[in-house]
Amino acid sequence: MSDIREELQMKRKSPEPRTGFYVLKHKDKDVAMVQVDIGTGRLEYVLAVYLPEELPFGCGPDGKYLPEWWKFRAIPNSRKGLRQVLSRIGAETSQALLLYSYGLSLTDHYWMQPVDRELYWDDLNFYKNDFSEDLGNLLTDSEETERKGLKLSGLSPSASVNGDMKKKWVIRDGVRFLLKVNINHYSQQSVNEVIACRMHERLGWKNYVSYRLETIKIGGLQYPCSLSPLFTSEKTEFVSAYQILMDYKISNAMSLYEALILRVSEKGAAAEKVRRQMEYTIMTDFILSNTDRHLNNMGFLYDSEQRCLMDMAPIFDTGNILFYDQDVIPHRKNLLDIEVNSFSRREAEMLRYVRKGTALDLSRLRDFPDEAKALLLHNTEMPEERAGEIAEMIREKTEYLSMFLNGKKIWKRERYW
Ligand SMILES: Nc1ncnc2c1ncn2[C@@H]1O[C@H](COP(=O)(O)OP(=O)(O)OP(=O)(O)O)[C@@H](O)[C@H]1O
Ligand SMILES: [Mg+2]
Repeated sequence: MSDIREELQMKRKSPEPRTGFYVLKHKDKDVAMVQVDIGTGRLEYVLAVYLPEELPFGCGPDGKYLPEWWKFRAIPNSRKGLRQVLSRIGAETSQALLLYSYGLSLTDHYWMQPVDRELYWDDLNFYKNDFSEDLGNLLTDSEETERKGLKLSGLSPSASVNGDMKKKWVIRDGVRFLLKVNINHYSQQSVNEVIACRMHERLGWKNYVSYRLETIKIGGLQYPCSLSPLFTSEKTEFVSAYQILMDYKISNAMSLYEALILRVSEKGAAAEKVRRQMEYTIMTDFILSNTDRHLNNMGFLYDSEQRCLMDMAPIFDTGNILFYDQDVIPHRKNLLDIEVNSFSRREAEMLRYVRKGTALDLSRLRDFPDEAKALLLHNTEMPEERAGEIAEMIREKTEYLSMFLNGKKIWKRERYW
């Protein structure tokens, strides 16, 4: 096994030019020829497009937005602990880390082949071929791996997964899972994912990612972490709503929400089914006070052989809920003033996208606030008072949603209590 630190160091010392030529591949199809800066991993030029119809969503027919797509594929600079990992490995950027793994991911079927090498999807892809957890371990607990002082494999799908939370892909009994961890805020984000799952279960909703809790040792201490099974496969890719809208011209008269539904229905998704999931997500996010349903936290499954969108991806990433990063839990009318990062700026206004007549059987959530409280107390060091306030807040939000479903325009902030 080669060591990523040694290889990157050799490349830095090499007198050869820093420019490299790569073929962007979709499985084994040659999609485009690009020029890359080997040191920074940045995609500098799109030299030729061979198969425009195989380009990733949102890159334009001439591949104009491929550099942005590539950059977004790498770990974002906002990822906790990224800078330390890069400096320990000796990589200039997270795009260099991504290039080291040929840009392969567990999100889709794209990768980069150096022009002077003959490589095949079957031999490389992470869906079928096992991978080392070395890089993932470093990304979740940098000190632990360094202490071992062993060779470090850098070939990993953990180099191509976005999001701010520390995370790594792991294989358990042959199944790939995304493990996410945060050590501050009582590790509430991890437990929140499971709380959201319990709510979907009670409501009888099927299309969600089932998160489970485990613990992980970081800096010698145990913390809760969440594990979610892979929802993509060698057949289906994930395409985020952001990607869908990246190169789409939206008329002034149309909302981003409607534009998204229109665009995906043009690409094969059933509009009515999409609407149902979007509305369900808005309503359940409201109950939980999810501030982060941005365009990369929702998306679609794409059949890469048939070349069509199949369905919405299961609901995932519901960790930024229940005021996980706030000391004071708001109540009553303050719950109608929550700012969110989604189709509207105010959470209550998101409900305007839910059509008249849409229903949700809220009676199924009667004991849900108590279950959420029990999960928080059982899995975190959170004081009982805070968990109690969170449960009360869920109750109040459910009541507001019930008023909304009964025709009240709750975003007008009239007094109800
Ligand atoms: N179970 C899964 N199967 C396949 N892909 C997944 C899975 N979970 C997450 N992903 C992919 O990984 C990305 C990052 O995951 P996630 O959104 O959960 O991370 P996060 O750090 O919580 O994100 P954010 O910065 O939005 O808070 C997702 O946008 C999605 O593309
Ligand atoms: Mg996310």
